[in-house]
Amino acid sequence: MKKKINFGVIGAGRIGKVHTATLVQNVAPAEVIAVADVNLESARELAQQFEIEMAVENYREIIEHPDIDAVIICSPTETHVQYIIEAAQAGKHIFCEKPLDMELKKIKQALDVVEKAGVKLMVGFNRRFDPNFHRIHEMVAAGKIGEPHILKITSRDPAPPPAKYVAGSGGMFLDMTMHDFDMARHIVGSEVSEVYARTAVLVDPEIGKAGDIDTAIINLSFENGALGVIDNSRKAVYGYDQRLEIFGSAGMVNVDNNYPDNHRYYNADGVHKNLPLNFFMDRYLEAYANEMNEFCNCIIHDLEPSVNGKDGYMAVAIALAANKSRLENRPVKMSEVL
Ligand SMILES: NC(=O)c1ccc[n+]([C@@H]2O[C@H](COP(=O)([O-])OP(=O)(O)OC[C@H]3O[C@@H](n4cnc5c(N)ncnc54)[C@H](O)[C@@H]3O)[C@@H](O)[C@H]2O)c1
Repeated sequence: MKKKINFGVIGAGRIGKVHTATLVQNVAPAEVIAVADVNLESARELAQQFEIEMAVENYREIIEHPDIDAVIICSPTETHVQYIIEAAQAGKHIFCEKPLDMELKKIKQALDVVEKAGVKLMVGFNRRFDPNFHRIHEMVAAGKIGEPHILKITSRDPAPPPAKYVAGSGGMFLDMTMHDFDMARHIVGSEVSEVYARTAVLVDPEIGKAGDIDTAIINLSFENGALGVIDNSRKAVYGYDQRLEIFGSAGMVNVDNNYPDNHRYYNADGVHKNLPLNFFMDRYLEAYANEMNEFCNCIIHDLEPSVNGKDGYMAVAIALAANKSRLENRPVKMSEVL
């Protein structure tokens, strides 16, 4: 049994930095030995920050490195399938950021290669590892709210991404709502059967010009009969708004946002508290550490990751149904995209 897992990180951008810092600082069995980025300067900066030996431009140096056991794919979405396939063929375990791709056919091809290679594949749905959402999942699974009837997810970012990022991201549903689609099927414990998306561009006209949306209300129907609603905005002026409620035949459970601390200040103008933690790099730090610890544990003890390729596939399928719904302005059955 291996006790130390050697990692190579591909992509030294926003999430590559988060995962590298997490692995170095919060995951005992992990050693990051290489970082790759097409922008060599980004790879070098990250490597230097965490005293990582190797910074390279070409991801193949990571995939072909004999001492690397696992790769963390944090490059842009359009590279994920290719890197998964090459890493699996080289016998590396794989953690890949969401979404796996924008096309189900390509995802299926990658999952087939992973299965044949017999390596682990975990997908970056970090919110499942957030202690708040994890608690709700456990309570629903234990029957504490009875039969689930209504799910409500509020998911609003503090600021929209640059229009350039939007263009390569596959749009808001594949990029941002992706997490909420995964959370919905995870918490309700049933597959989505129908999606109806109402959308708008209310935050940034540049996002509209790039063919995307920044505001949405998405209605979900589940195979077990439950109903769900997700509301998204690319800009909440008060910070990262991440709340969830699930109501059922025997009760209701919800979680509020996380705050930097719990103080309240009272004066003549009112009662004041902090804004919520500002974005994913703050709100989900504990979740990222839990996620990476599970990935290491799965490699060391030969276990199947709790978030696997099928989860990655299904969340993309729901996003594609939502896109179809928005473009055709009608409810779309999952059977139309699957
Ligand atoms: N789970 C999460 O919380 C989370 C958060 C943010 C982003 N993501 C996902 O992670 C991926 C990256 O997003 P980001 O926000 O870090 O983007 P980013 O633009 O900040 O970083 C991407 C990095 O990849 C590099 N890069 C570009 N092309 C490359 C290639 N062909 N090979 C290797 N490196 C390449 C870029 O130079 C850049 O440094 C996206 O798929 C996104 O959906 C997930």
